[in-house]
Amino acid sequence: MIDSKKRSLIKAISWRLIGLFVLSCIAYFVTGSLEQTSLVAIIYQVFMIVLYILHERAWNSTTWGRTRGLFIQMTGLSGSGKTTLARLVQQRLRRKGIQVEVIDGDEYRAGLCSDLGFSKEDRNRNIRRLGFVAKVLARNNVVTIISAINPYDNVRKELKLLDPNGKLVYVKASLDTVKERDTKGLYRKALLPDGHPERINNFTGISDPFEPPTDVDLFIPTDSADIERSANTLEYFIMRNIT
Ligand code: ADX
Repeated sequence: MIDSKKRSLIKAISWRLIGLFVLSCIAYFVTGSLEQTSLVAIIYQVFMIVLYILHERAWNSTTWGRTRGLFIQMTGLSGSGKTTLARLVQQRLRRKGIQVEVIDGDEYRAGLCSDLGFSKEDRNRNIRRLGFVAKVLARNNVVTIISAINPYDNVRKELKLLDPNGKLVYVKASLDTVKERDTKGLYRKALLPDGHPERINNFTGISDPFEPPTDVDLFIPTDSADIERSANTLEYFIMRNIT
C-alpha cells in the first residue's frame, strides 16, 4: 500500500505548516518582532525545501537498509502445512510493510496451470511455470513463496539456479500424519481400491513418488511443532535473508 500523490502532498503541506507555526512562535518569542519573525520563517522554508529534495535524492540513490525480495520454493506432501504456514507468515510480514506473494499450487492449477495433470512431466512443467512467476516477483523486491508439493529433485535444483539467492524450504510431515489430517479428503480417495470410481490415481506419497530433498536451506517439521512455532521459524528465516 502506498500513498497517492494527493495524500502525500497534503501530508507534506500539513507537516510543513506545523513546522512553520512552531518556528514562528519561537522566532517571535526570541526577537519580539513580527518583521524579523517573517524573515526567519521565509528563509527557513526555502532552506528546508531545498534540503528536503537533496536529502530524498541522496537516500533514494542507495538501497542500504531496505528489504530485498526473496525466492523461496517449498516442498512437502499435500497436507504438510505449506500453504497454511506461508499464508500466516505472509500476514505477519505484510503488517511490517513487507510485500509477500504466496504462489499456491492449488490456486495456479485452477488457472495458469489448468492444462496440466500429475505425471512427472506435467508436475515439472507446473513447477517451472511457478518458478518463472516467482523469479519475476522476487527480482521486483517481493518475498515470493512457492507453495507446491514440488516432489522432484531435478526440477527443485533447476529452480535453485533461477535465482542466486533462491531458498529451498522442506515442510515435512510424515505420511501417517498427513493421512490422518486429510484436510481435503484426498488421501481417503487415493487409498480407495483400484477401479473405484472416486479413486485418485498418481497421488503423491501413495501412488506417486515424493523425493525427499537432501540439501535444504530450511527444514520445518510439522508433525509435532505447533503452527505458530513453525511460522516463527519461517518468519525469522525470511527476515534474516531480506535485510
Ligand atoms: S505438484 O506436484 O505439481 O507440485 P501441486 O502442489 O501443484 O503439485 O498440486 C498439488 C495439489 O493438487 C494437492 O495439494 C491436491 O490438492 C491436488 N491434487 C489433485 N490430484 C493430485 C495428485 N494426484 N497428486 C497430488 N496432488 C493432487
